Amino acid sequence: MTAPSQLPTREEFLTLQEIVEAARRNVPPGPWSYLVGGAETETTVRRNRLALDSIAFRPRVLRDMSKVDTSAPYLGKRMRLPVIIAPVGGLESIVEGGAAAAAVGAAQFGVPQMLSSVCQPGLEATAAAAATTRCFQLYVRGDDAWVDDHVKRAVDNGYTSFCLTVDVAMYSRRERDLIGRFIKPWRATAPAGSSFQSALSWDKVKRFKDKHSLPLIIKGIATAEDALIALEHGVEVIYVSNHGGRQLDHGLGSTAVLPEVVKAVAGRAEVWVDGGYARGTDIVKAIALGAKTVGLGRIACMGLGAAGPAGLVRVLELLEDEVRICLGLLGAASFAELTPAHITMAAPANEPGVFSAFPHLPSRPPS
Ligand SMILES: Cc1cc2nc3c(=O)[nH]c(=O)nc-3n(C[C@H](O)[C@H](O)[C@H](O)COP(=O)(O)O)c2cc1C
Repeated sequence: MTAPSQLPTREEFLTLQEIVEAARRNVPPGPWSYLVGGAETETTVRRNRLALDSIAFRPRVLRDMSKVDTSAPYLGKRMRLPVIIAPVGGLESIVEGGAAAAAVGAAQFGVPQMLSSVCQPGLEATAAAAATTRCFQLYVRGDDAWVDDHVKRAVDNGYTSFCLTVDVAMYSRRERDLIGRFIKPWRATAPAGSSFQSALSWDKVKRFKDKHSLPLIIKGIATAEDALIALEHGVEVIYVSNHGGRQLDHGLGSTAVLPEVVKAVAGRAEVWVDGGYARGTDIVKAIALGAKTVGLGRIACMGLGAAGPAGLVRVLELLEDEVRICLGLLGAASFAELTPAHITMAAPANEPGVFSAFPHLPSRPPS
């Protein structure tokens, strides 16, 4: 586990690969396999990268790119990049301060943070740590009154949107953790209330929408069919995700699912996406496909693991630089100028994998 770096991270880390390597050095083996691993054969993990690597750009030229704006709208605000720090449980095993460290980095750079309900130091202390734009993500592990209590605490602490993660009817088999005999301290016993999580249904989404007015995000949508049901329930954000390949194995890559969801939703709600996003070009691809916001999971954790909040800021600075260069070379001076015509399907040029976005790792971390 790392404490904030004493070194000037701007000079220390010139590339994202160097950040991944530093995280590998700092994060102990058990938490490392928890962080990078996925479910069973990790086919979904690899398909997340495969889907991104199967898209190529169609650049337009001679369009005056002397000024490129990488900012984007986020639920009525404007953020420096169209990204959110995705919810990660057990972050305290990766970085000192856990979610509070992520809040500090997100606030310093200027992007929102989605806090996981299974992350220390918890809802109130994370909010107190930094003045970031806040979203709270809940695993439903209690009755209606338990959910309502979390909504109240979130609203009281300045969280302006609420997320239910719905791809967890069962807890998956994460084989790296099993083989390494890594007992996650926060899962040492079966989590209290997991039967509520298994029993969750659209009725509970309806009850939530009838009772609460803050924007609701449903995270873990992976088909157009479910996106349409979410729309019928008045959900504000449909978050396409396969949990970073950590839940259902042998699913499609999130970016491969995105077009059918964007088409079905047809602008009636926001569509967000995550899964394998690790480079600026990845973010540009998602927005060209019609997503509004991209969730950063493992890559944000790599920054935190490498150098605490400053490492997260450095990850975001590098992504911003990559996005700016990508937009400029595409002939789009802002995300508003980006269209589906800027991308096309192409044969992937890489073997997909957890680290395939970082081909220059001098010593590839054990995958
Ligand atoms: C270590 C770890 C813990 C996670 N914990 C949660 C969680 O508590 N709640 C949740 O909704 N998603 C959780 N996720 C999924 C992320 O929010 C996100 O969907 C995923 O990491 C995106 O894929 P990426 O890591 O390839 O960017 C977790 C992911 C990781 C890597």
